[in-house]
Amino acid sequence: MDKEFDSNVNALNSLLTIIEQLGHIKDLDALLDRVLLEARQLTNADAGSIFLVDSMHNNLLNFSYIHNDTLFTSPVNKYIYSSQTLPINNKSIAGYVALTGKPVVLNDVYDIPADKPFGFNRAFDIKSGYRTKSVMAVPLKTSRDKIVGVLEIINALSAGKEVVSFTETDELVVNYFANNAAVAIERAMMTRETILRMVKMCELRDPKETGAHVNRVAAYSAEIYQKWALNKGIGSDEIKKTKDLLRIAAMLHDLGKVGISDVILKKPGKLDDQEFAIMKFHCILGARFFENSTSDLDVISAEIALNHHERWDGQGYPGKIDNIYDNEVHLGVGKKEGEIPFSARIVALADVYDALISRRAYKDAFPEEKTLEIIKQESAKHFDPEVVEAFLAIYEVIVAIHAKYQDEPSSSPG
Ligand code: C2E
Ligand code: SIN
Ligand code: SIN
Ligand code: FE
Ligand code: FE
Repeated sequence: MDKEFDSNVNALNSLLTIIEQLGHIKDLDALLDRVLLEARQLTNADAGSIFLVDSMHNNLLNFSYIHNDTLFTSPVNKYIYSSQTLPINNKSIAGYVALTGKPVVLNDVYDIPADKPFGFNRAFDIKSGYRTKSVMAVPLKTSRDKIVGVLEIINALSAGKEVVSFTETDELVVNYFANNAAVAIERAMMTRETILRMVKMCELRDPKETGAHVNRVAAYSAEIYQKWALNKGIGSDEIKKTKDLLRIAAMLHDLGKVGISDVILKKPGKLDDQEFAIMKFHCILGARFFENSTSDLDVISAEIALNHHERWDGQGYPGKIDNIYDNEVHLGVGKKEGEIPFSARIVALADVYDALISRRAYKDAFPEEKTLEIIKQESAKHFDPEVVEAFLAIYEVIVAIHAKYQDEPSSSPG
C-alpha cells in the first residue's frame, strides 16, 4: 500500500471519529462551534462562518457563528453573538448557496468571475481590516435534501501561512463533512425548539418571563461558566461538555413558575410576604420536572431549578430539604458557598443580572451602572465571588448577548 493511500485512510478515519462525536453534542451553539472548528481544521482555514436558515422566515439566513483566528485571538469573543441576517437570493455567496444547494469555491472573492450572479460584500473586511480571499461555501443539507444552512470557510493557509486556494480534496472532504454535520444540526435545532416550546408554556403564564430572557440567561451562564472553569484550570473536554449541558439546563431554571397561580405570577406590584412565600416554591416545582433524572442533562437541570435562588451567604431559598417530593414540603436552612452546586451559583448571577437590567412587571429596568454596582456589592453576599470575577472579565460578551436576544413585541406570532 502506498503512502498516500495510508494517509487518506487516516484522514478518513479521523473524519469518521469527528462525525461520530458531533452526534453527542446537544446544544445548538456548542455544535455549531465544533462544526466550524473541524471544517477549518480539515482544510487549514483561517476563518469561517455558519449561516442558518431562519426557523420562522425561510427566505432569511441568520449569521449564526463566526470564527477568525487572525482577528479574534481571545478564547471567548463577542463576535460569536453576532446577529446579522442575509436574504436568501443570488446576490451574496451564502445566499446563492442556500438558494441553489450548490457549493461555491472562489480563489479570490475580490475577483469573482463575471458569469457568477453574486458579489462579495466587503463591509466586514472594511470594518475589521481583514482581507478575505479564498472562500469555500457549501450547503448544510440533511439526508432529506433539506437545506438548514451554509458553511463558509475562508482563507486556506499554506504551511508558510500564505493564503492559498482550496483544493479539490478540500471540497470533497468538506462536502462529505457538511452533510453529516447538517443532520446533527437539524437534531440540535429540534432539541432547541422543544425547549423553547416548554419555555413558551411558561411565557403564557408569565408574559414577562420571555423566551428572550431565557435565551440570554442561558448564554450568559454558558460563557460565565467557560471563563470560571478556565480560571480553575478545568480541562477543555470537560469544559466543552459541561458548557453544552449548562446552556440548555439554564433555559429551564424557572420552569416551576408554571405551577404558581396567576394572581401572584402576574401581579403588577410588589408581592407581600405570603405571596412571596408561595413564589419561592417555584424552585421545588421546577426540580420535580426532572424526577426521573437519568441523563446528565436532567441532573444539571434539576440542580439549577432547585438552587438558583440560594445565596453564597446562606440567606437564599429554598434551602436544605430532605425530600422535594414530600406532599408537605417546607423550606429549609439556606445552603451556602460550596453547598450550592456551581451550576446554580452561575445561573443565580446570570438571572439576577438579567432581571436587573430588564424591565419587569413589578420594576423598571435599572441603568447599566447601577446594575453593575449591585452585582459588585453582592459579591460574596448573594453571589460566589469567583463567579462575579468571571462575569466581569467577560462583560463585553455579556453585553453582546444582551444585544443579540432582544424581546420581541408580544403581538408577534409563534
Ligand atoms: P425574576 O423577575 O426573574 O427575578 C430574579 C431575581 O432577580 C430575583 O429573585 C432577585 O434576586 C433579582 N431581582 C429582581 N428584581 C430586583 C430588584 O429590583 N432589585 C434587586 N436587588 N434584585 C432584583 P427573587 O427576589 O427571589 O424573585 C424570584 C421571582 O419572584 C422573580 O423572578 C419574580 O418572578 C418574582 N418576584 C419577586 N419579587 C416580585 C414582586 O415584587 N412582584 C412580582 N410580581 N413578582 C416578584
Ligand atoms: C456571503 O456573501 O457569503 C456572506 C456575506 C459576505 O461575507 O459577503
Ligand atoms: C436581591 O434582591 O436578591 C438581589 C440583590 C440582593 O441580593 O440583595
Ligand atoms: Fe427563579
Ligand atoms: Fe428568571
